[in-house]
Parts: sequence; C-alpha cells; structure tokens
Amino acid sequence: MYKSFLKRCIFLSLMYIPVYIKLYLYGIRCLKIFKFNNWHHGFCYFIGVYSEKKVFVKVDTRIHCVCNDKKAFEILSTSQVMADKLISVEGECLKGKIQFVLYEFLQGSELTHELLKKNRLYFVQMIAMVNEISKYNIIHRDLKLDNFYVDMNGELKIIDFTFAYSKLYSFQELCLDKLTHCSLLESLGNGLNPKAFLWDDFYSLHKIFDDFIKKNSRFQSINKIYEYRDEVEMNITINKVELVPTSKLYLFKRKLKNMLREE
Ligand SMILES: Nc1ncnc2c1ncn2[C@@H]1O[C@H](COP(=O)(O)OP(=O)(O)O)[C@@H](O)[C@H]1O
Ligand SMILES: [Mg+2]
Repeated sequence: MYKSFLKRCIFLSLMYIPVYIKLYLYGIRCLKIFKFNNWHHGFCYFIGVYSEKKVFVKVDTRIHCVCNDKKAFEILSTSQVMADKLISVEGECLKGKIQFVLYEFLQGSELTHELLKKNRLYFVQMIAMVNEISKYNIIHRDLKLDNFYVDMNGELKIIDFTFAYSKLYSFQELCLDKLTHCSLLESLGNGLNPKAFLWDDFYSLHKIFDDFIKKNSRFQSINKIYEYRDEVEMNITINKVELVPTSKLYLFKRKLKNMLREE
C-alpha cells in the first residue's frame, strides 16, 4: 500500500508536468488531480473543463490501451439498449506517449451492495448491458462493481472498457511478451474471471450476483436475485476469450508465480 503510494508520488513528480502541458495544449482548463489513490500502471485521472464542460480525463502513459474506451463507445453507442448506459466521450488524444480520453464528468459513485439493495432494477440493467455488449461481440474483461457507475439521478452506467477484447473489432491488446502487461492481464477482473487468462463477462456478473447473495442473505428480495443469478448462469461460456499460452508465456507465468509468491 505504502509502496504503491510512493510509486504514485514519484510518477506524479516525473510525469505531472508533461501530462499537464499536453492536457493544457489540448484546451483543458482548471485541471485537478482526481482519485489519486486509484492511479495504477501509468493510468492517472484528472478533472477539468473542456469546451465549457466539466470533464473526467483518463490518461494512459504506459500501456496505451485507453483507445479501447473510445472504440467501445463508438461501437456501442449505436445500440439503443446502451444509449443511456454509456458516458459520452468529449474528446481524445491517442498519439504519443501520453494518451487520454475525455469523458463528460458525472457526479456520482461506483456501484455498491447498498445501492443495489435500494434499486433492484440495477440487476436487470446489468444483465441487459452484458447481453448487449456480448451481442456486439465485445468482452469487457474487467466487470466488477467499480466499473458500474451510478450518476446523481440514480442512472446506472457501465465504464472502463480499457481492457476490452473483441473477436470482431481490433481492440488494442496488451502485449504478452511483457511481464508487466502479463501480470496486468492476469489480474483483470480481480478474481471475477474463471481462471488466469480466461475472461467471460457472464461469469463475472454471476460472481457479482453470487457475492451479493452471500453477503445479503436477509435482503427481502433475495429470491428474485437468485433468479437473476440463474438467468446469467445460462449464458456463461457463450462469449468468452482465453489467451492460448505459448511456450514463451509459460515461462512468463512461472516468473509471475514466483513473483507473486515472493510478495
Ligand atoms: N465520467 C466520469 N465522471 C466521474 N467519475 C468517473 C467517470 N468515469 C470514471 N469515473 C471514476 O473514476 C474511476 C476510475 O475510472 P476507470 O475508467 O474505471 O479507471 P480504472 O478502473 O482503470 O482506474 C471510476 O471507478 C469512477 O469512480
Ligand atoms: Mg475501473
């Protein structure tokens, strides 16, 4: 914890000025650091004002996958189901070492069990979203409560397509030859994927619902949540992706395991 905070501080002192200059030259004003504790793997967040609109700025200085956020938005915003479930993209710069996407800033919070208890409809909307994303042949790969966002009006949104994958569209993929990318890939979904290097959004959603059931067994509408969970379960394996390990990757995996054991 302390180590990662220190890392962020070093990163901030080294990168803040070039990032700030790039965002300023793009026309973003009133820049403020945002969610400093969430900064990771070269991703950092700001809020600012662009074209008189308050924006959330997601900056990617290392992995260069933030273009996937924009791509997913372009593809999915043609869907009627997703129309009000995505946060609008207000601009982007996807060239060079410092890349970023600007989103409309929405006051709100990440989804929690408490919010789910207050509005059971969120379960239904989550199922509809994952169904639709799957119909578009996109796999989010990082589905978890934090990547659903509830705005000030109580509207549920889905966010963070940075690590999305598609068999149909060319999303930017992490590079399996790099150990840091590999460890990032392995950690995607934070225990909500079936196994390392295998992703299935329905599996993740099922796990989210299952966790809710385990922790809120006295919730008055719990029977309904069982139904939602079972509905999702039927779709597990319909849209999944597994990265086939090459002999090189096995080497990396061994290295990774050693690394994890050491920590
Ligand atoms: N448009 C937005 N307006 C306000 N806050 C946002 C917006 N998009 C994301 N956030 C907040 O920033 C956090 C980080 O964004 P996210 O894209 O999920 O990045 P990551 O999970 O990779 O750190 C989210 O969990 C959410 O709380
Ligand atoms: Mg996220």
